[in-house]
Amino acid sequence: MDVNEKIKKIEEQIEASVNDIKSSKTLQEIKMRFLGKTGEISSLMKNMRDVPPDQRPGLGKILNTLRQWTESKFDSLEKDIKAFELKKKYAEEKIDVTIPGQTSPDGAYHPNTLIKNELVSLFAGLGFEIYEGPEIENDYYNFTALNTPADHPARDMQDTFYLTEDLLLRTQTSAGQIRVMENKKPPIKILSPGKVYRSDDDATHSPMFSQMEGLVIDKGITLCDLKGMLDEFARRVFGESVKTRLRPSYFPFTEPSVEVDVSCFECGGKGCKLCKGTGWIEILGAGMVNRRVLEGCGIDPDEYTGFAFGMGIERIAMLKYGINNMKLLFEGDTRFLKQFKD
Ligand code: PHE
Repeated sequence: MDVNEKIKKIEEQIEASVNDIKSSKTLQEIKMRFLGKTGEISSLMKNMRDVPPDQRPGLGKILNTLRQWTESKFDSLEKDIKAFELKKKYAEEKIDVTIPGQTSPDGAYHPNTLIKNELVSLFAGLGFEIYEGPEIENDYYNFTALNTPADHPARDMQDTFYLTEDLLLRTQTSAGQIRVMENKKPPIKILSPGKVYRSDDDATHSPMFSQMEGLVIDKGITLCDLKGMLDEFARRVFGESVKTRLRPSYFPFTEPSVEVDVSCFECGGKGCKLCKGTGWIEILGAGMVNRRVLEGCGIDPDEYTGFAFGMGIERIAMLKYGINNMKLLFEGDTRFLKQFKD
C-alpha cells in the first residue's frame, strides 16, 4: 500500500474511533493506538528507512503534519472530555439540602441513674463529698470492722457471695465507711454510691443492686442532725409535704439504729395500696455510728460522734416511679426505659 493511502486510512480510523471515546481512559487507550511508541504513526515513521533518500524530506513533512494533526485532535478531545467528567462529578456530589436528615433515636437515662444523679446533686449541695469503694472487699471491711465479727448472728442478715475465704462481693456500701474513716480525719461528710451483691432473688430483690451510703462524723453530731437531714432529703425527693419518722431497728455498726419511713406520697398518709394501708413507706436504714466502729478506725468516740445511713437506689426508683417489679430495672428493655425520658 502506498504511503499516502496509509495516511488516509489512519486519518479515517482516527475520525471513526472518536465515537468510541467515552471517558479519559478510553481516550488515552485510543490515543496510544496511534501516537504510542508502537502506534500506527510511529511505525509509519520507522518505515522511512525503506523510502528512497530523495523522497524522505517530503514524506517526513507529511508524516509530521499527520502527527501534529492527530495530537491536536486528541488534545482538544481530552479537554472536552475532562470538562464533561468534572461537570458529571459535581452533579453527582451535589447535596440536596431538602432531603430529610437521618436521625438516630434519642437515649434516655436509666431510672437508677436518674435517682443516683438526683441524690448525688442533692447531697453534694449539702456539702457531701463522693467516695466510691471497691466492689470486691475483704471480710474485715464488709463485716469485722463494722462490728460484725465472724460468729456474729448479724452476718445471717445478708447472704454473702464469697470469692475466697477472705474475699467477697461487698454486701453493703457500709464497707466504704471504714475505708474513709481509716484515711480521713473528722470532720467527715461523704456520700458513697455503688453496686452491692447478695444471694437473694425475687420481685423486690436482686443478686446485684445499688446502694447509696452516707456518713457524717464531727464533734457534737446527734440523732437530731440525722433526722433534720432526712427531712430535707425526703422533701426534695418525694415532695414538700412528705414527713419522716424513725423506728427502732438493729444494725451492728450503729447504736442506736433506726429504720426510716416517709409518709406515703401517694395517699398523703391516709393508707393506700403503695403503703399497704399503713400511711408510711420504709426507705432506708440509719443510726449513730457505733463507738466500737469509731475506735477501730482510730477516731476517739468521746470526742467525735456521727451518723450513717444507707438506702437501696432501686427501691427508691421503684417507689418514686411506681415500678412494681425490680427485674424491669435490669432487663434493659427499651420499651420500659424510654418511659423515663424527661
Ligand atoms: N448497710 C445497711 C444495709 O445494707 C444499711 C445501713 C447503712 C444501716 C448505714 C445503718 C447505717 O442494710
